[in-house]
Amino acid sequence: MADISKDTVQWFPGHMAKTRRKIKENLPLVDAVVELVDARIPISSRNPELDELTSSKPRIILLNKCDVADANATAQWIRHFEEMGAHAMAVDCKTGKGLGKFDEVVKAALADKIAANIEKGMPGKALRFMVVGIPNTGKSTFINKMSGRNRLKTADKPGVTRTSQWVACGNGIELLDTPGVLWPKFDDPAVGDKLAFIGSVKDEILDAETIAVRLIDVLKRDYSDRLIERYKISNEDMELESYEILEKIGIARGMKIRGGEVDTERAAVTLLDEYRGGKLGRLTFERP
Ligand code: G4P
Repeated sequence: MADISKDTVQWFPGHMAKTRRKIKENLPLVDAVVELVDARIPISSRNPELDELTSSKPRIILLNKCDVADANATAQWIRHFEEMGAHAMAVDCKTGKGLGKFDEVVKAALADKIAANIEKGMPGKALRFMVVGIPNTGKSTFINKMSGRNRLKTADKPGVTRTSQWVACGNGIELLDTPGVLWPKFDDPAVGDKLAFIGSVKDEILDAETIAVRLIDVLKRDYSDRLIERYKISNEDMELESYEILEKIGIARGMKIRGGEVDTERAAVTLLDEYRGGKLGRLTFERP
């Protein structure tokens, strides 16, 4: 099992049990759940247990980091989640782009609750939310941006702590200040690969060549133009094995080791760094 993120959370059963318990404890206090997912990997950055854990509350899914995801794919994902009965929207919590629509989505997701509040003579009653997601999806960034605070630092500790407080965001929206930190579903190795592509799994525990080859597998299929353009690889080369394409990348960059062999290790690190640095453009690795 991989050890996710620079914040080093090891998901052992005790952590998971504590998270489940805390989410269950806090659920009655909120009107809805805001789930952050990474728009580049909307399957691998979700924890499937959440559906069951929070089934009693409406859910708003934020496809965060849409600034670095493929815009067409993000639009497909929003449609997909909406078809599944959730409310979904694309955001870039770092800049706040898209968050202006949150209010509108809240009104749609909680229409019954808002109507009931009006009926009870409490039209201004605050609507309360729990923020959840796996590490690195942008939960603290979201809470900070919504509340105008910039100091909230969340340790990636599992679960929602007992000292939780409400953060007012204006427009009658309040968030639990400590997000529920879920774990990724590492039982599927492809999930680990995709978390590695985006840099959410510690680099030192991974073999760069293996991850780069898996990244090339996906790029060959969905974004061959980006590889061709950046690394001067021909269209015909796309028929090659991914490892051979990695060699081509090394050759294109003059990465040779003694004896004239291609330094595929360096080529792999270069490819991963350049992807993460935005040099291959906005990519999404999963489709509905
Ligand atoms: P978490 O609480 O869910 O664990 O995530 P957190 O808010 O700490 O965000 C994780 C990383 O993702 C941070 O980067 C944050 O800046 C970045 N991030 C959050 N939202 C967005 C977004 O919409 N777009 C992009 N491109 N990045 C986003 P970091 O490298 O850990 O920190 P820093 O570089 O911001 O200092």
